[in-house]
Amino acid sequence: MKILANDGISKSGVQTLENAGFEILAVNVAQEQLVSYINQNKVSVLLVRSATKVFKDVIDGCPGLKIIGRGGVGMDNIDVDYAKSKGIHVINTPEASSSSVAELVFAHLFSGVRFLHDANRNMPLEGDSNFKKLKNAYAKGIELRGKTLGIIGFGRIGVATARIALGIGMKVIFTDPFLDEATVTVPFFDNRSISFELTSTPLENLLKTADFISLHVPAQKSYLIGKREFGLMKDGVGIVNAARGGILDEVALVDALESGKVAFAGLDVYESEPIPEIRILMHPDISLSPHIGAATEEAQDRIGMELASQIIDLYK
Ligand SMILES: NC(=O)c1ccc[n+]([C@@H]2O[C@H](COP(=O)([O-])OP(=O)(O)OC[C@H]3O[C@@H](n4cnc5c(N)ncnc54)[C@H](O)[C@@H]3O)[C@@H](O)[C@H]2O)c1
Repeated sequence: MKILANDGISKSGVQTLENAGFEILAVNVAQEQLVSYINQNKVSVLLVRSATKVFKDVIDGCPGLKIIGRGGVGMDNIDVDYAKSKGIHVINTPEASSSSVAELVFAHLFSGVRFLHDANRNMPLEGDSNFKKLKNAYAKGIELRGKTLGIIGFGRIGVATARIALGIGMKVIFTDPFLDEATVTVPFFDNRSISFELTSTPLENLLKTADFISLHVPAQKSYLIGKREFGLMKDGVGIVNAARGGILDEVALVDALESGKVAFAGLDVYESEPIPEIRILMHPDISLSPHIGAATEEAQDRIGMELASQIIDLYK
C-alpha cells in the first residue's frame, strides 16, 4: 500500500506507517504532475499540508485514492464534500498543533510588552553606538501577570492559549457564540492540575475590558475586528492574530497603532498572505512571524503520528 506524503511528514509518522507495512513516498510532486504521479505509482493515500491542492480534478483523475489526509486543521485546500461523495476518507489532525500556536501567541505577547520585536531590529544597527538611547526607549515595559487576556474563539487553540495565560497568572475572559461556559484545566509538569470555570462574555464587553486580545476563530465572511471594534478597546491594548488573515482589518490596525489606541500587535497571519503589506512589515509596533503557528517539531511529530494511527485504523 503506497502513501504519497506530498508536503512532508515527520520521521515518527513515517516509521509508524512503515512498521505497519505501508510504503511512504516522501517526495514533493508539482501540482501539475500530481495526477499522473499518483496513478503511475498506484498511490492509495495522499497526505498533504496546506500547499498541495486536492480538488475535483485530482479526485476525478485518481480513482485509486482511498484516503486524503491533511496534516493540520484547515481543509481549504481539499474539496472534502466531493471527495467523500466519491467514497474517499478525508482525515485531518485538528488537535495536534494547538499548544504550538498558543505558545507562539505568547511569544508575540511577551515580545510586545517588552518591545523585543523592535529592540531586535535596532540593536544590530545601534546597539554599540546608542546603547543608552535604546535602553531608555525600551524602559517602559509591563508584565503580563495580573492583566486580563480576552480570547475571541474558545475552541482548541483558544483553550490552549487560556491554559498558558492562567499558568502565568493572567485573568482570562472569552467570547464564543457557540459556548456559554468552559472548564479549562491547566496541567503542571508533575501531573497535578488546576481547573478553572470560565463563562463566555459578549464580544463588546471583552473588547472593553481586556488588556490583551488574542483571536482564535475560523475564517469569517467579514472582518471580526475593524475600526469600530478597535474603538471599543482599552487604550494601550495589545492584540495578536494567529488565526487567519482577513479576520482583522489591517488598515484599521495600523490606524489604531498610530493613534496609540493599540500599543502593539503580533501577527502570524496576513490579509494578503503570502505577500503581506509593506506597511505591516515595516511597522515598529508589530511583532511578525510568517505563519509558523503550527511549525514546531512537536506539532509535526504529533501530526505525523495522528495521521499514521488514523490510516492504520482505517485499513484494519
Ligand atoms: N497560525 C497557525 O499556524 C495556525 C495553525 C492552526 C490553526 N490556525 C487557525 O486557528 C484558528 C482556530 O483554530 P482551532 O483549532 O482552535 O479551531 P476550533 O474550531 O477548535 O475553534 C474555533 C472556535 O471559534 C468559535 N467561533 C466561530 N466564530 C466565532 C466568532 N465570530 N466569534 C467568536 N468565536 C467564534 C467557534 O465556536 C470555535 O469554538 C483557525 O482559524 C485556524 O485556521 C492557525
